[in-house]
Amino acid sequence: MKTLPVIIDCDPGIDDAIALLSAFVAPKLKILGICTVCGNQPLTNTLRNALQITELGYRVDIPVFAGCHQPMLRAPIHGQFHGENGLGNTAFPAPKKQPESQHAVNFLTDSCEQAIADNQPLTLCVLGPLTNLATALRIKPHIAAGISRVVLMGGAYREAGNRTMTSEFNMLADPHAAHIVFSSPLHITVLPLDATHQVILTPEHVAKFVKVSGRISAQLGELMAFWDRNDVRRYGSRGGPLHDPLVIAYVLAPELFGTEKARVFIEHNSELCMGQTVADWYGKSGETPNVDIVTRVDANKVFALFYELLSRYAGK
Ligand code: RIB
Ligand code: CA
Repeated sequence: MKTLPVIIDCDPGIDDAIALLSAFVAPKLKILGICTVCGNQPLTNTLRNALQITELGYRVDIPVFAGCHQPMLRAPIHGQFHGENGLGNTAFPAPKKQPESQHAVNFLTDSCEQAIADNQPLTLCVLGPLTNLATALRIKPHIAAGISRVVLMGGAYREAGNRTMTSEFNMLADPHAAHIVFSSPLHITVLPLDATHQVILTPEHVAKFVKVSGRISAQLGELMAFWDRNDVRRYGSRGGPLHDPLVIAYVLAPELFGTEKARVFIEHNSELCMGQTVADWYGKSGETPNVDIVTRVDANKVFALFYELLSRYAGK
């Protein structure tokens, strides 16, 4: 099978952890490295959590890198639904695996330059704030040529925000980084709240995932159970949106999703709308559309994909 070289940049985070565990067992993905960033939790915790998840998912072979410890300009804000340690109430042993000594931004620029040299552009999956990628672009703008596509979880287009009235957490956490990335020549696909709110991990789904996931089922079940927002008014059911895992599902099976193309701008001045993702649906800006916005999801087939992936842990 022809594998796809990917780098996963994340801020674990419960949904990041579910995304990583799914990616670890996808034969199509050649995971070059995991970059961590300040987001849901301070960097010390997102780094530790990423190391712990590589141990849980039997993938200590994947190098893990510490990235930016705060947003480009704004003070850090953290996630509200991931528990004290960022992985719910699940107690993981202190990780034995050590992070790489290289900074995640330097790993990103080196990997992109190698991808250019090998003529094998990589796919960058971003599951948290865009600080690492934006910093890499500021240091070495030419690395964009080494990235075939950025697939990121972030934004709210026809949906309201989930952290403020207008803004989704990843974009709000570092709006200046998002502005840099969305103003770059990169090909970007976004999984916004408009898409992730169509895929709600209900208690019924959690029970099924626990049944099929073998030796990680106890920890996976705890992580998934903690993710139950119980915000029936917003989501129409118990459970929590599978935000970050949808990035992995899109990379593996883009045919399960429908997109609309638009130029996207990031509000990075107004406090009222800070971090808002503004789509130019009708070409008012005169600027070239640069983002594929996922607006339609075949949720049933996405769940079937995750059942197939996570059941691979039964054989571990
Ligand atoms: O708004 C959802 C995003 O914010 C997800 O990436 C979640 O992990 C949090 O970082
Ligand atoms: Ca995340």
